[in-house]
Amino acid sequence: MCKLEVNIKNSEKNYPIFINNRDIETLKQTVLDYIGEKNYIVVISSKVYKLYSSKLNFDKHKIFILKDGEKEKNIKNYTKILQFILKHRLTREDAVIAIGGGVVGDIAGFAASTYMRGIKYIQVPTTLLACTDSSVGGKTAIDTSYGKNLVGTFYQPDAVFININFLKTLSKRQFKSGLGEVVKYAFIEKSCGCGEDLNLMNFLSNNKDKILNYDVLTLKELVEICIKLKTSVVNQDEKESGLRKILNYGHTYGHAVENYTKYKKYTHGECVVAGILFALNFALKLNKIDKEYQFICQDLIKNFDFTVIPKFNKNKILKIMMTDKKASDDAITFILPTGFAQVKAFKFSPEDIIF
Ligand code: GLY
Repeated sequence: MCKLEVNIKNSEKNYPIFINNRDIETLKQTVLDYIGEKNYIVVISSKVYKLYSSKLNFDKHKIFILKDGEKEKNIKNYTKILQFILKHRLTREDAVIAIGGGVVGDIAGFAASTYMRGIKYIQVPTTLLACTDSSVGGKTAIDTSYGKNLVGTFYQPDAVFININFLKTLSKRQFKSGLGEVVKYAFIEKSCGCGEDLNLMNFLSNNKDKILNYDVLTLKELVEICIKLKTSVVNQDEKESGLRKILNYGHTYGHAVENYTKYKKYTHGECVVAGILFALNFALKLNKIDKEYQFICQDLIKNFDFTVIPKFNKNKILKIMMTDKKASDDAITFILPTGFAQVKAFKFSPEDIIF
């Protein structure tokens, strides 16, 4: 078992991230041992429940099943989860256990962060995207009709338990959505200030077949590398006042495409990859990188055969970018590559964005 730690600067809230590939049957006891003799409820994705309920073996009456899909991350389900917590009379010492992908982690975390001004919560991510990105760092949220993640908190979990075996049952498309965030980490590695040379770009090109074949030990190593990068960034800037913005590489354009296509046509990871390709092009035109580096990045992306997203109407995409929560004072923040595995945040007025 590998144990990594989140140690946030100027904060007393530190927590462990356990990464293993043990039998899923062992998970319940491991989590319950960690929370001690406390009351708890479990919020679980319906897909994960169907596949793993007997292996997980949590008491049925403690389980809240959340349907899958981004559209479930809404205020109605948030209220239902709160009612479920109230029904179980959880106190501040008790815990919410979130088992699933980013949607479950975000909404369960948001409920845990607001119930009684915050109770314990444990993340058990089951998708590649949640294992490598969303389960760590304490971003919780629900979506509104005005946009994604517009209502939420920064609220760190008490622990994250990653079991790589969950990844074996992901569909190719869902798996690749996670890979979109993984390649992002490769392209931002040197800016994360991790203090270790992890060389994720090399790891990805040397292990592409094993990764695409869901090789458990390779995925375990891959998740460890991404978590080391993510924790390094979160430790330095929990609330995204500076450095953490680099985790949004590919997201300004990516979020706009997701919104434009109503979160139905493309996965988050596919949109992030489209955003990275857009940022590479934009940075090249601004002379922040050279053609050779753009080629290296495009080549790495090609290895994973992501869905190609066509170009959309520039004015419509710009309009969506302006309503993104990261836009301020008529300026749009873009994370752009500036060198090998390096990125930086830049602000642009809409007319200066090169499509
Ligand atoms: N997923 C981006 C962040 O955690 O900041």
